[in-house]
Amino acid sequence: MHLVDSNEKTVLVTGGGGYIGSHTCKALAESGYTPISYDNLSTGHAELVKWGPLEVGDVGDAKRVKEVLEKYRPSACIHFAGYIQVGESVLNPGRYYQNNVSGTLVLLEALLESGVMGFIFSSSAAVYGTPQTSPIPDDHLLTPINPYGESKRIVEGILGDFGTAHGMRSVSLRYFNAAGADPDGESGELHDPETHLIPLVLQAAIGKRSDITVFGDDYGTPDGTCLRDYIHVTDLARAHVLALEMIGYGVTARAFNLGNGKGFSVMEVIREAERITGKRIPVVLGGRRRGDPPVLVADSSRARVELGWAPRYPGLDEIIGTAWRFYSARETVEK
Ligand code: UFG
Repeated sequence: MHLVDSNEKTVLVTGGGGYIGSHTCKALAESGYTPISYDNLSTGHAELVKWGPLEVGDVGDAKRVKEVLEKYRPSACIHFAGYIQVGESVLNPGRYYQNNVSGTLVLLEALLESGVMGFIFSSSAAVYGTPQTSPIPDDHLLTPINPYGESKRIVEGILGDFGTAHGMRSVSLRYFNAAGADPDGESGELHDPETHLIPLVLQAAIGKRSDITVFGDDYGTPDGTCLRDYIHVTDLARAHVLALEMIGYGVTARAFNLGNGKGFSVMEVIREAERITGKRIPVVLGGRRRGDPPVLVADSSRARVELGWAPRYPGLDEIIGTAWRFYSARETVEK
């Protein structure tokens, strides 16, 4: 099967019902694309698929993937579907390699067979492990320290090989700390279980949790808590649209860091959330979480120069503020 006659403005989005996937579907629709969400809904949400059709299926199900490819004849694929919990990946690495690597390989083979040669991959800062320099340049050594990061590194390697062997054109986007919510309130972060700092802090502010545990205050950072580069999910979404345009020009296997280039500490995030929500957030000091690098800050100059990407919501206030609006609106509806 070869999709010689593909629909240029149709894009397959695996994990389109997820957090970054759904925001990207919105960005695609705003740029005139039709996103086809392909999601098994194990962690994704049908209610977040608003900007194109939903097809339910697994990335590792070659027959189902080909069926969907035949039905819509997309010109490219943006691949978000995957497991994302670092801690779980350490306890159950097989699950991560099975889904994130084997599943992706099945998807890639199906795309190749169908003649879909454009691929955007949802990668992560986790590919760097504990970096040697800060901010981290895109050509820093890839030395992941957990199976989640390793699974992302392996797929980036596969994409390089598929580019060389088959001419597949791909872009890997290495997200730093994705955060915030759609400024219009149409999508947001709905992980279950939730492990990320900002949504947990907001749950504490809204009273859904009694407090927030700070994982370690004895790092070599100004206030002793870890520094992270929080990047607005809408800015990440926009980078996927730019990457799609880039693969149209024939790039083979290029990777980009996506971050604001500024680190905020865990305590700074909590204080800013208190200011924005007007609520006191009780803090419990806990021990370090295994596998947490002290500082993760991006040097995104390659994305700025080559993709023409620039964050539109770089402020921590905008990031926490949009997330807070999304949570508090849902909380009001649920009550
Ligand atoms: N943190 C707490 N308490 C919590 C949750 C988090 O103190 O209850 C701290 C963490 O220790 C870390 C910071 O808040 O210092 C941010 O933690 P997140 O869990 O929100 O995000 P991570 O930095 O662990 O994760 C990010 C990406 C992953 C990537 C990882 C690489 O979301 O995709 O960086 O280390 F794998």
